[in-house]
Amino acid sequence: MRISLLKPRISLNSKLQIADEDFFGALRRTEYSRLDSTNHTYLDYTGGNLYPASLLKKHHALLAKNVFGNPHSGNPTSRYSTELINETREKVLRFFNADDYICVFTQNATGALKIVGESYPFNEKSSFVLLIDNHNSVNGIREFCNSKGGAAKYVPIQYKNLEIDEPALRKSIDETTKGENNLFAFPAQSNVSGLKHDLKWISYAQSKGFDVLLDAAAFVPTSKLDLSLVKPEFVSVSFYKIFGYPTGVGCLLIRKSAFHKLKKPWFAGGTVSFASAVNQTYFLTDSHERFEDGTVNYLDIPAVKFGLEYIGSIGLNRISKRVHSLIETLAAELNKIIHDNGQPVIKILGPKSFSNRGGTLIMNFLDINGEQYPNGEFEKRANDNLISIRSGCFCNPGIDEINNCVTKDEVTAYFTDRKEEDYDEFISYLKEIRGATRVSVGIATTEKDIIKFTSLVRSLQNKAVANSLLSKKKVSGY
Ligand SMILES: Cc1ncc(COP(=O)(O)O)c(C=O)c1O
Repeated sequence: MRISLLKPRISLNSKLQIADEDFFGALRRTEYSRLDSTNHTYLDYTGGNLYPASLLKKHHALLAKNVFGNPHSGNPTSRYSTELINETREKVLRFFNADDYICVFTQNATGALKIVGESYPFNEKSSFVLLIDNHNSVNGIREFCNSKGGAAKYVPIQYKNLEIDEPALRKSIDETTKGENNLFAFPAQSNVSGLKHDLKWISYAQSKGFDVLLDAAAFVPTSKLDLSLVKPEFVSVSFYKIFGYPTGVGCLLIRKSAFHKLKKPWFAGGTVSFASAVNQTYFLTDSHERFEDGTVNYLDIPAVKFGLEYIGSIGLNRISKRVHSLIETLAAELNKIIHDNGQPVIKILGPKSFSNRGGTLIMNFLDINGEQYPNGEFEKRANDNLISIRSGCFCNPGIDEINNCVTKDEVTAYFTDRKEEDYDEFISYLKEIRGATRVSVGIATTEKDIIKFTSLVRSLQNKAVANSLLSKKKVSGY
């Protein structure tokens, strides 16, 4: 195969030893030149990928040259829209090697997860087992389970390396009564730590009678998900995370054998083969359309096809190796930055090894005495330098509670006398710093982004900068 024969090349001119710098440097110049012309350093790929210029051009040419009508009709413009949507659907299935699956287009990964939440047949005997390291769009499914009398059970991760607590996971799965409607949900890659969780848990949970929901949103931009090798019942994806454009299109992949297990609680335009107003009967369609409420995003969906072709033209393996090299280099450069007394400036959270990481790092910044700087203040410094990173909890409260040792009692005490709350107030209440800073690399990242970010971190060695950040810490009451 073309992709597996590629050998990462290291540019002779580069200061850092990052694999394939020549190729990706050239790609940056052709497809992402706006980064350099606007002087932006973009390090938030887990938030959203950047679109290549050629993808916009192709899509705009398609729209400019053709006439598209609303699907759900036999007229010629409608048929053309349907044709392109179906071609794209096939392309998505091929991308994931998903012959056993049905592809339902959604607005995003959250839309996919909501379909599973509202349609999974939870009942009073059901268990919804989920990893504590999950995005809120998965956490929210517990409310569907709880409202039907089932029990949601969190499985912890290990404080020291943020990996799954395997004995605890085994126990939660093993002790669940077989034969009920039980669902296990976990992310293929953590949106916070970047850790790729072992996909072996899919077949393990299935062997104990569970259905499995794999949240692949953070994994698929830089790793191959082959659904002929692992076969979770449900998979959630957002396409802008893979190639940046279009936003507003994602998909739910449903294993064919699980399709009829989902009980859609209502019907809507586009989802029925028959509906009557006078006797309140309806029949749902027996295809992907059942879950595609209303008019699908028929102008943007064809751009997904172009996006997948773009990724295919580079090769996901090549992207994967490149991102791995970028993140290893970034971590190595950051770890070299120390204070005068030898104390580290940075603490990277998660496992020491990088074999299981995607393109994401989370970290905290420390002063010369080991005291933590407020992440928000560091982010402001980055913003001032046109560096886009992210700080906070990243919609994943569980991993943050583990990282910062926030106990159930502390959260319970806080909620006891409050009807409403906000995150900043909770931080003041705890009198601790919460969250972390997340830096993520991707297809358009080059050596200069790594150098720019490490220079920013190096500025924390400067006493004046350090004092100014620490004084903000006092003012903001952290
Ligand atoms: C792992 C994971 N799951 C789900 C989501 C939700 O994705 P979206 O906001 O596109 O629906 C995200 C978004 O960052 C994510 O990283």
